[in-house]
Amino acid sequence: MSALILVTGGTGLVGQAIKYVIETEPEGSRFGKKPGEKWIFASSSEGDLRDAEQTKKLFEKYKPTHVIHLAALVGGLFKNMKYKATFLRDNTLINDNVLHTSHLTGVTKLISCLSTCVYPDKVEYPLDETKIHLGLPHESNFGYAHAKRMVDIANHAYKDQFGSNFTSAIPTNVFGPHDNFDLEDAHVIPALLHKCYLSKKNGTPFIVGGTGKPLRQFIYSRDLAKLFIWQLREYDDVEPIIFSVGEDEEVSIKQVTDAIVKAMDFKGEYTFDTTKADGQFRKPASNKKLLSLIGDFQFTPFEKALDETVKWFLENYDTARTGKNRKTT
Ligand SMILES: NC(=O)c1ccc[n+]([C@@H]2O[C@H](COP(=O)([O-])OP(=O)(O)OC[C@H]3O[C@@H](n4cnc5c(N)ncnc54)[C@H](OP(=O)(O)O)[C@@H]3O)[C@@H](O)[C@H]2O)c1
Repeated sequence: MSALILVTGGTGLVGQAIKYVIETEPEGSRFGKKPGEKWIFASSSEGDLRDAEQTKKLFEKYKPTHVIHLAALVGGLFKNMKYKATFLRDNTLINDNVLHTSHLTGVTKLISCLSTCVYPDKVEYPLDETKIHLGLPHESNFGYAHAKRMVDIANHAYKDQFGSNFTSAIPTNVFGPHDNFDLEDAHVIPALLHKCYLSKKNGTPFIVGGTGKPLRQFIYSRDLAKLFIWQLREYDDVEPIIFSVGEDEEVSIKQVTDAIVKAMDFKGEYTFDTTKADGQFRKPASNKKLLSLIGDFQFTPFEKALDETVKWFLENYDTARTGKNRKTT
């Protein structure tokens, strides 16, 4: 059977991980390329998905039968707080254009990407797939969160009105090769990794914001990639699925820092700046639904995944997103 799979946001952290897995897993295997499949990994330069005409042109060019929709305006806390209207509007436009064009062009399956940070601020833990809409998101990222939540609403609307096969995935914190390492804007792992690198290179202090105590679930981008590929082939339901390691695999920011120090072979000391806010102590998400459906799946051990990320960062420092060629929002 021939299939054209268009991955929007194909040049980002998650998109590049899917590309890696599709190209390196044995052909015909569970996560490898299947006969007759063609994969396209689109960047914003091929079409700005905030624009309906450019979205239409991208779909006319490739005629996708399947879409994994990852493209989004993504950012850390600071950027989310500063540009709420832009996060709301850009992501709303991108999602509306991709979903509606998929509908108009008869895409047979569309998976969009949400995030556990779109969940309500006040919610009972662990997070599960039934709790997305049970309260307002944290005010720091309400633009991004509302735009993302609307994808789940739209998926249900398209299914009810047109029978569309649209669904979504909800990853926890992702890290891996091709991440955004720009210190102005990076998530915690790429930010600490870049800081440690600079301390090692320049002999300057390595200072970690907060107490190091908060716990988080991190998913390696190449594991997440496999889960998207599985979802594309084996999951046909509108309800989202959380993509996460288990609740017993939370790691503290101190454990993350120690693993980075080891992987970087950083010989100096590091300190915690306890005047910096910690954020929530933990916000565990349940992966029970995922495990009940996927069967046997091995997550990469955290330290191994971090080692691979550090290796990629060191080998690609000159071209990685480190802030050198920063685009303004
Ligand atoms: N990173 C995380 O921890 C995390 C956690 C949960 C969920 N997610 C979700 O996972 C998805 C992928 O995130 P990521 O971390 O891979 O992001 P990323 O590395 O920042 O990549 C973003 C991708 O979106 C594309 N893009 C941005 N604006 C676009 C536009 N207007 N038109 C077309 N393409 C556009 C970018 O293209 P260019 O390269 O051309 O700019 C890039 O390919 C997102 O939906 C995000 O919300 C991420």
